[in-house]
Formats: sequence, C-alpha cells, structure tokens
Amino acid sequence: MIRKRVTEMKEWKALRRHYKKMKDVTLRQLFASDAVRAEKFSINDGGIHFDYSKNRITEETVSILLELAHARGLRNEIERMFRGEKINETEDRAVLHTALRNLSGAPVIVDGADVMPGVFSVLDRMRDFSDRVRGGRWKGHTGRPMRNIVNIGIGGSDLGPRMVTEALKYYSRREMNFFYVSNIDETHIVETLRGLDPAETLFIIASKTFTTQETMTNAGTAKTWIIDHLGSDKAVPFHFVALSTNADEVNRFGIDRENMFAFWDWVGGRYSLTSAIGLSTMISIGYDHFVSLLNGFNDTDRHFRQMPFEKNIPVIMALLGIWYHNFFNAETHAILPYDQYLKKFPAYLQQADMESNGKSVDRSGRRVNYQTGPVIWGEPGTNGQHAFYQLLHQGTMLVPADFIGFARSLHGAVDHHRKLVANLYAQTEALAFGKTAEELRAEGVPERLIPYRTFEGNRPSNTIMAELLMPVTLGKIIALYEHKIFTQGVIWDVYSFDQWGVELGKTLAEKIFMELEPGFSGDVKHDSSTTCLINYYRSWQ
Ligand code: F6P
Repeated sequence: MIRKRVTEMKEWKALRRHYKKMKDVTLRQLFASDAVRAEKFSINDGGIHFDYSKNRITEETVSILLELAHARGLRNEIERMFRGEKINETEDRAVLHTALRNLSGAPVIVDGADVMPGVFSVLDRMRDFSDRVRGGRWKGHTGRPMRNIVNIGIGGSDLGPRMVTEALKYYSRREMNFFYVSNIDETHIVETLRGLDPAETLFIIASKTFTTQETMTNAGTAKTWIIDHLGSDKAVPFHFVALSTNADEVNRFGIDRENMFAFWDWVGGRYSLTSAIGLSTMISIGYDHFVSLLNGFNDTDRHFRQMPFEKNIPVIMALLGIWYHNFFNAETHAILPYDQYLKKFPAYLQQADMESNGKSVDRSGRRVNYQTGPVIWGEPGTNGQHAFYQLLHQGTMLVPADFIGFARSLHGAVDHHRKLVANLYAQTEALAFGKTAEELRAEGVPERLIPYRTFEGNRPSNTIMAELLMPVTLGKIIALYEHKIFTQGVIWDVYSFDQWGVELGKTLAEKIFMELEPGFSGDVKHDSSTTCLINYYRSWQ
C-alpha cells in the first residue's frame, strides 16, 4: 500500500503555516508572556524531570505536532512493535528489544512462540557466569581467576556495553579491569593487551552475526595471543566466551556452545545492550544492578506505550526534533551530558540514531522529499563549553541540544557538583535568552564591541534531570532515546531497523583488501582516484 507522503498531510501543511508565524518569535517573548511556561512545558514521570520549555514552541505548536503523530498512526505503530510484528520489513524481522526487559514475563509472541522463556534462560546463564567470574570461581587455563575482561565487538556490540559500563563505573567491581576493542586498526588490540596477563584475561567476543570483519580479525589475534602465551590451544575455552546469534560460527571459532550466550534476530545490534551483549556490563556491575538497569528500561517502555502523547517524553522529544529539522532546517542535534560518567553517551546515540534514521527512501520505496535523521554529536559538559559552545551561542547554525544532568553527585564534594549544575543551567539560559545590545551598553561595553559581544539567544534546548545516576535511571534515559528514534522513524516514514547503507563499503573493502596485496596480479578496476590510491599503498609494501 502506498502511504501518503508526510509532506502531503494536512498536519504537516499546518506546521508549515505555523512555522511562518513562529520563526521570529523569541524565547524571551514566550517566557515574558507566560509566568508558568516552565510548568506547562515540563513532564515529571518515574523520577525523570523533562523540561522542554526552552523550545521555540507554543501550545498551538505542540498541539499540531501531536495531531501529526496521531494522523501518522503512531499509537498503532507502537503497538505493532511491542506485539512483535515484523516491523523490520526489509529484513523480515520483529523488533523486540522491549522484550529483553519485560521482567513481568508477560508473553510476547513471535512466529507463534513466546520469546520470554528464552530471554529468562539467557539472563539466568549470564547471572551464573558473571557471578562466577566476579567471585573468582571462573578459572583460566592455568587456574587463575579472571581480572581483565576484554569485550571484542564493534557498532552495537561495542558502543552500548562500553557506554553503560563506563556510565555505571561507580557501581563496578574495582578489582577488575574492563576493556573494549573495536577497531580493525591493530593499534587498538595491541595497546589494549600491552601489559595484560593472559592467564587472567577473559575475552568476550560480541557479534550478532559472528562474521563482522573487524571483530573476527581482532578475535583471531586475541586467540593467537592466548595460545602463544599459555602454550596450548586447550586454553581457548577457558579464556573465550561468545555473545551471538550464530552458533555455527561460534563453534567454528573454537568456543564451546556452553560458553555462548545467545540472542535473537529480533534484537537489532544498536538496540542490543540489554541482551547478552550486556554481559561485560553485568560482570562489571553485578546481576542485581543489571536488573535495575533493565527495570529502568522497562519503566520507560511502559511510559512510552501507555502515556498519552502530550505527557509522553520520547514522543515530545521526537516531535521537537521534527519541528527543528524539518521546519527550521536544523541539521544536527547536540547531546550534552553534564556527567563525566556519560562521556560515551553521545557516541552511543550516534549509532542508535544515525544508523536508524539516516535513510532517504520511505516505506513505499520512494525517495523522501524532506530531511530525515540529523547528525548526532556531543561531548560532556563542561568540557564542550571550552571547545565548541562558541558555535552553539554565536554561530550561524541552529543546533537544538539536550542537556542531561543529575541533582545529586555520586561523590562527596558538593562544590564540584554545584558548579557542574550551575554551568548546565547557565548554558541553557544563555542559549535561550542571549544578551542584547542594550544590556551590553548598560554594562558599559564599548560600542565597537557590541556586535561581537551580543548573543542573539533563541537557541532551543531540552533539559533532562534526574536525582542521581543509578542503573535504573540510566536505563530510563537510554530508553527515552530509543523510543524517540522510533517515533521519528514513524513520522518520517522510514524503516528504522535496517542498515543497508553500511553494506557497500564492506563489499568494496573486501575487494580492495585483495588488490592491496603486493603480489596481486588481477585487473584493478576502479575510478582513477581509487586506482592511484591502491598503487600508492602497494608501492610502499
Ligand atoms: O555494520 C553495521 C553493523 O551491522 C551494526 O548494525 C552492528 O551493530 C555492527 O555492524 C556489528 O555487527 P555484529 O554484532 O554482527 O558484529
């Protein structure tokens, strides 16, 4: 069935007209005319405080955006995902990361079978294994307990667990060291393994397909390292476990099926951190904290499924993104966590969002005539303030931003934390309201400097606050973004759960890999630039 283009919908057209009215309205005006604007445009639910009042919106804006979501059938699309329908159409798969944290166990049916018993069985095995490793009861080939855990994976098999392990480091087993190797550049594994004792090192090979070039190359290098240092290939089963959907390839690599933790084709790579892919995180923080993380995800899943859209945080986040990307032509979105533990969060979201919605063909197979997924980027505050915030404040681009912070610190020094939060709040205030020429004159700023020192303001942001960075809170926040991405995919009418755009580069790399060999005698057929580059490389071998 050919679906109506979103740009032809009456709600979209209404937003276009509304934009003309709104484009010159300032946040100063909006706040001045409404004393309760912050309360009006905030949502408090499950310990998350979401303030979206510093956006260039009125109640009318929100109401048309919500109408768009309804008209696009968002409610029904949400149900289809949660019920396990095969909404990943181009790969003919269900999309059920929500089942991974469905701890109530309510049945979720895919192809006529309930997936929940399988989910619980893997979770139990992960618990048993992580308890043994943490407790020093999992012994290596020479009888020593494991102290170094090296996760080898890339993309979703790296970014998710790496981000969460870092974010929850406060709760981690400090006597153990956690490493993540992803890059095919040998530097990554060489520098990681330098100084590690093989007898105390456990490799977790994380790959949904178990065929990814980077992961399999690094896994092979790790295997050689173990065999060379421990003197026998009998060491492999003691030092390697696998997280995968591909039992045959795992077996071929030499890892016992016993030591494989499965997941399923209905778990997308970038949505997999709550599956077996989270094993390194579970070893780091322990089963109970991991379950709290899952509970946090589940809380947001329920919020997303049940809340009316006007109180639904991911839906509002998504609609605000649509408002800026499609009407104000904003091309990027900044993620600015004011918490050092969340330093990997922007990189994690880059894959989650850009691999999901970086699409230009709609669900009816037509090229879209509107902008879809934005560039996601960011760094923790306050570091970013001394680097790129200049552009956010005075550059020519509009960059909507999410500020994320916590009301309490995990550490003792009130001074640090109060300064951190003061900076977060100051930035959102400065972005929104800027500083006028009149204000500068009143401060005695010389006239010639006024243009340079003026801040236009009117730069939108969301602020997401929670009490404290706990596993449950982190789960809630990550799931907000997962569902934001889902919602935008529905509105943009793209398939958010495939990633065909990564394939061409992989195929070409395999071909060029052979052509780079000094002895290669076949025909090198490329454009003149690529051919010259290949010859340049070969000339140095
Ligand atoms: O190439 C992209 C991708 O397929 C991602 O979607 C995925 O997260 C990553 O590669 C790793 O894949 P795998 O877990 O199968 O090794």
